Amino acid sequence: MTLNIILLGPPGAGKGTQASRLEDECGMIQLSTGDMLRAAVKADTPIGVQAKAVMDAGELVSDEIVSGLIGERLDALGGTTSVIFDGYPRTAAQADALDGILAARGRKLDHVIELVVEEDALVDRITGRFSCAKCGEGYHDRYKLPKVADVCDVCGSTEFKRRPDDNEETVRTRMAEYRAKTAPILPIYEARGIVSQVDGMAPIDQVNGAIESILDSSAG
Ligand code: AP5
Repeated sequence: MTLNIILLGPPGAGKGTQASRLEDECGMIQLSTGDMLRAAVKADTPIGVQAKAVMDAGELVSDEIVSGLIGERLDALGGTTSVIFDGYPRTAAQADALDGILAARGRKLDHVIELVVEEDALVDRITGRFSCAKCGEGYHDRYKLPKVADVCDVCGSTEFKRRPDDNEETVRTRMAEYRAKTAPILPIYEARGIVSQVDGMAPIDQVNGAIESILDSSAG
């Protein structure tokens, strides 16, 4: 069964962490607009050049750019691949665009999973975050350290990096953008009866279990 799900929540809610678990455990594919934009910035493409200053300020990149990226990425996948939208949609215009993108490809949205978190804890989560410079595995200074100090659990690399937008001032702007532009799209999906809430403050394994139970409910 092909699933199309959205993980929704403010910066640091755990969308990327959970999407990566679903890739490993359920064979789904994570479509993260944040990762796509960071790759474009790194490769210095025209989109990357345009997006860099906006991302560094914690503001939102244009709806046209991110929806274009999502459409291209979906086209590159097989039609039967289950996908997790991570960090997309983030505005009412993007939610509208996603409906069209999915319909044009014979897909439909199955679940919107809202990670419910306490905002005060998120600054701590984000400013403590780092990842493997080689394979991208995510870690945290306190909540998820590599099993062997300074060695990536997944690929063995000893190089790690931090995101330029993971400082407190930018995080506050990103949260304000979430409250103003992203949280208001929830009612669109609530009206369709496809929103489930998960306690994003629970330990990572527990959040993962709750999400997989929701997905299992569609299989049964
Ligand atoms: P993006 O990369 O999407 O960033 P974000 O939404 O701000 O989300 P984060 O990646 O910061 O958080 P997350 O929820 O994935 O948390 P994570 O799992 O890493 O976007 C970056 C920028 O790109 C935007 O600001 C914007 O400029 C642009 N952009 C992207 N998409 C866009 C769009 N659609 N439209 C316009 N612009 C767009 O977890 C955080 C930390 O907490 C980790 O260290 C993790 O180990 C830890 N952690 C996770 N879960 C738990 C837990 N349950 N308990 C304890 N620790 C936990």
